Amino acid sequence: MPRVMKGAVPSPNIWNTPQVYELENRAVDPDGRADAAMSAVRPRTGATVVDIGCGTGYHLPSMSATAARVIGVEPHDDLVQLARRRCRALPNVEVRVGTAQSLPVPDACVDVAVARWAYFFGPGCEPGLAELSRVMRRGGAAFVIDLDATRGAFGRWFSRSVPAYSARSVEAFWERQGWRSEPLDLRMVFERRADLEAVLRIEFTPAVAEQAIAETTGLEIAYPNVLRWKRF
Ligand SMILES: C[S@@+](CC[C@H](N)C(=O)[O-])C[C@H]1O[C@@H](n2cnc3c(N)ncnc32)[C@H](O)[C@@H]1O
Repeated sequence: MPRVMKGAVPSPNIWNTPQVYELENRAVDPDGRADAAMSAVRPRTGATVVDIGCGTGYHLPSMSATAARVIGVEPHDDLVQLARRRCRALPNVEVRVGTAQSLPVPDACVDVAVARWAYFFGPGCEPGLAELSRVMRRGGAAFVIDLDATRGAFGRWFSRSVPAYSARSVEAFWERQGWRSEPLDLRMVFERRADLEAVLRIEFTPAVAEQAIAETTGLEIAYPNVLRWKRF
């Protein structure tokens, strides 16, 4: 039985099938748009960066290339081990067990915080936002990258899979918190059709996944996201 910290939001895609989630991460954003959009707001060069909910640490090595220091935070013990193994040769990366609501970092030491595909940042995440206020240094910026459920076939498949999700409530929540947002038009590009289908099957309910597979020709899927951020 894997050990998961209290307060973690279940993330069946990466918790149950990290190897398929790895295929998804490899396919997403071949154009580097997410990193370019974040760097335009707050460059990472020389920064202390925290990746909140870092999963298997897929994004930690690329962050460590320009940052002074990178800290991955993840509540799922097995994923922490995978992230540590991935980054063991990188002296400026460490992975800590923790949650967004109780970040294992001291006050005012973070220049850039990133939470990517992080269900735990949305309505009700005020404790996590309070933690960001505690750990962010003046001049820093925190980012949340999320699927935009209001756009495209991907948004439609997501809304059918998670009917209780209200994109309007999520948007209203972030507006109330004073965060800014902009559309982030990403794409997933796969090398093999089997990988594309496996990823759709971990993202959606079985019926919706089969529908998504039938509606998708080739190896590419448009993946409309939204980038949210706040400066500190
Ligand atoms: C969909 S995965 C994304 C992983 C990673 N950001 C990536 O892009 O590969 C969401 C991750 O958030 C973690 N998570 C869930 N609840 C959390 C919380 N309360 N605080 C921090 N991380 C959390 C999960 O364990 C999972 O690894």
